Amino acid sequence: MRATLIVLIFAVAIYGIVIAYTFGYSPMVKQSSIEKWMEKEMSKKPSYVESEVCKQCHLQTHTKWSLGNHSTVECVNCHGTGEEHAKLRTKESIIVEDTRDTCMLCHKKIAGRNIATVEENHGSGVRCSYCHDPHSANTRS
Ligand code: HEC
Ligand code: HEC
Ligand code: HEC
Ligand code: HEC
Repeated sequence: MRATLIVLIFAVAIYGIVIAYTFGYSPMVKQSSIEKWMEKEMSKKPSYVESEVCKQCHLQTHTKWSLGNHSTVECVNCHGTGEEHAKLRTKESIIVEDTRDTCMLCHKKIAGRNIATVEENHGSGVRCSYCHDPHSANTRS
């Protein structure tokens, strides 16, 4: 009789702990960790570098770019965020992805795109930069 009572009290206690954890403690921990995460994310500065900053060291490229068809496309759209590179000034710290995929990201023919688009087979087998200057976005002459 006494043994049964102890088991019963024990079971109720365990049950209580589980309920308290699931509906009380756990959501509290979750909420505070979400808040911490949000605080951390929002304190970050944007890590992309504006084309105006690239201009300081790449005046010629910047001038060509600013006068051409790609003047609405930021340098970092094609070259990665640029944050490391602006500090380190090395080749290794910047992305130069001279592939058809880089260009097709924006120029692939998809219904509704309101920029000049091309078919996959346009200039097929050759890098786009072979015929187009990526900075002026003109056909190379
Ligand atoms: C403080 C000066 C400085 C700034 C700002 C700067 N660069 Fe550079 N960049 C350099 C130097 C120096 C080199 C040449 C590194 C070498 O040849 O080792 C270079 C090289 C490059 C290269 C050629 C890499 C290669 O493989 O040949 C690219 C592309 C480039 N920069 C893009 C950018 C972009 C995009 C920005 C803006 C987000 C930028 N740079 C901002 C100094 C700078
Ligand atoms: C539409 C994509 C695109 C944009 C926008 C772009 N680049 Fe480039 N960039 C490339 C590609 C692709 C190459 C490698 C092929 C080449 O040099 O023709 C390159 C090469 C370079 C190089 C090394 C070769 C060279 O021409 O001196 C530098 C430096 C550079 N870019 C800087 C910049 C800067 C600065 C900007 C913004 C003012 C910029 N790029 C904007 C795609 C781009
Ligand atoms: C981030 C998007 C983006 C990327 C990546 C991009 N472009 Fe563009 N491109 C544009 C926009 C926007 C324009 C100007 C608006 C338009 O085409 O009507 C343009 C214009 C052009 C034009 C001129 C079109 C005309 O009307 O004569 C050419 C050529 C071109 N891009 C080639 C390239 C090449 C080559 C690459 C890769 C090195 C590239 N683009 C990568 C967005 C992009
Ligand atoms: C073999 C050379 C060659 C290659 C490679 C090439 N193009 Fe072209 N592209 C041309 C020529 C030529 C034109 C027409 C030029 C003109 O009208 O000024 C053109 C036109 C364009 C236009 C303008 C289309 C329009 O409707 O106004 C875009 C955008 C373009 N190309 C993007 C690209 C992209 C992106 C790539 C790589 C996937 C690429 N090209 C590869 C030669 C080439």
